[in-house]
Amino acid sequence: MAKTLILETIASEMPTGVIVLDKNGTALYANTFFLKSFPVDGGVEGRHISSIMENANLLKTIDSFLEKRGGNSIDIEINDGSRHFNAHIVPLKDKGEFSLLLFLQDITEEKRVETIKKDFVANVSHELRTPLASIKGYSETLLDGGMDDKETLREFLRVIDRHATRMARLIDDLLILSRLESHQMAIVSAPMDLSELITSSTKGFEKQARDKGISITSEPTDELPKVLGDRDRLEQVMVNLLDNAIKYTPSGGRVLVRALKLDGGVRVDVVDTGIGIPAGDIPRIFERFYRVDKARSRELGGTGLGLAIVKHIIQGHNGRLQVESAPGKGSTFSFFLRSAG
Ligand SMILES: Nc1ncnc2c1ncn2[C@@H]1O[C@H](COP(=O)(O)OP(=O)(O)OP(=O)(O)O)[C@@H](O)[C@H]1O
Ligand SMILES: [Mg+2]
Repeated sequence: MAKTLILETIASEMPTGVIVLDKNGTALYANTFFLKSFPVDGGVEGRHISSIMENANLLKTIDSFLEKRGGNSIDIEINDGSRHFNAHIVPLKDKGEFSLLLFLQDITEEKRVETIKKDFVANVSHELRTPLASIKGYSETLLDGGMDDKETLREFLRVIDRHATRMARLIDDLLILSRLESHQMAIVSAPMDLSELITSSTKGFEKQARDKGISITSEPTDELPKVLGDRDRLEQVMVNLLDNAIKYTPSGGRVLVRALKLDGGVRVDVVDTGIGIPAGDIPRIFERFYRVDKARSRELGGTGLGLAIVKHIIQGHNGRLQVESAPGKGSTFSFFLRSAG
C-alpha cells in the first residue's frame, strides 16, 4: 500500500486538529478535524493564522516561535468560548526552511468532568462542615460548664444527636450514589409485582403522614403486568419520592400513589398537593446537592441527594423519569418501567 495514502488517511481520520504554518505564520495545510473545529470560508490555505484562530495567548506563543525560528515544542491550553483545547506546538526545521505544526486536541469533556469533580468535593466539604460546626459548638459550650444544668445538657445533646444523624445520612447517601455510579451496586432486574411494592412503601409512610396531618393513599392497582426491576433499588426510589412528597407538602395536603398500565410497561405516579417546584428549577433538581430552598431543605434534614439517587436507579433500569409541578399546587413525579413479558 502507498505510504502517502496511509499518511493522508491518518491525517484526515485522526480526532486531533492539525495545522501547518510557514515561517510567516501563513497556513500551508489543515486536516479535516481542524477544519471542522475552526471552519473558515474558502479553506485555510494562504491565510494568516491570526485570521483563522482568535486566542490571544496562542497567537502570542506562535509569534515568538516565528521570531526565534526555533525552540522546543510546548503544550498550552486554550479556551475558545465554551470549548477547551490542548495545543501542542512543534517547530520544524528542514534545510534552512522553517515551519510550525499545531496539534489541537479537544479537551472540553475532560474539563467538564474536572469541574464537576471540583464542585463535588467543595459541596461535600461544605455539607459536612455545617453539622460538624454545630456539633463542635454545642459540645464546647457543654464542656465550658453548660452541662451543669441538666435541662441545657439534654437540649444540647439532642441538637448534637440530630446533626450527627444528618452527617451519617449524608455519608450513607454518598456511598449509595458512588456505588451506583461505579456499578458496584449492580441493578439486578427480575420480573416483579409493582402493586405489592406500592402498597408496602405507602404503608411505611402512614405514620409520618399522619403526624404531619397529610392523607396518604394508593389507588387500587390490580391487573398490572409484572415489570423488570430490582425490588430493593425500586423501594429506595419509592422511599425517596414519598419522603419528598410528604416533606414538601404542608399539613392538610394529600399524597397519592397510582400505577398505570401503558404500552410496553407500567408508569408509577407519586402525586402531592404540596409547595410545588418553580419551572426554572425543575431541570436541576436531579443534580447532586441541588435544593430549591437550601435553608428549608436543610432544616428538614435534607442533603439534596435523594433525587440524584432516584435518577441513577431509574436510568439503571433503562426506565424514564418525569416531573410535572406547579408552585403552590403540587408535584407529580413519575417513573416508567418496561413490562417483563
Ligand atoms: N415533591 C416535591 N415537592 C416540592 N419540591 C420538591 C419535591 N421533591 C423534591 N423537591 C425539591 O427538589 C430538591 C431536591 O430533592 P432531593 O430529594 O434530591 O433532596 P432533599 O429532599 O432536599 O434531600 P434528601 O432527599 O437528601 O433528604 C428538594 O430540596 C426540593 O427543593
Ligand atoms: Mg429528598
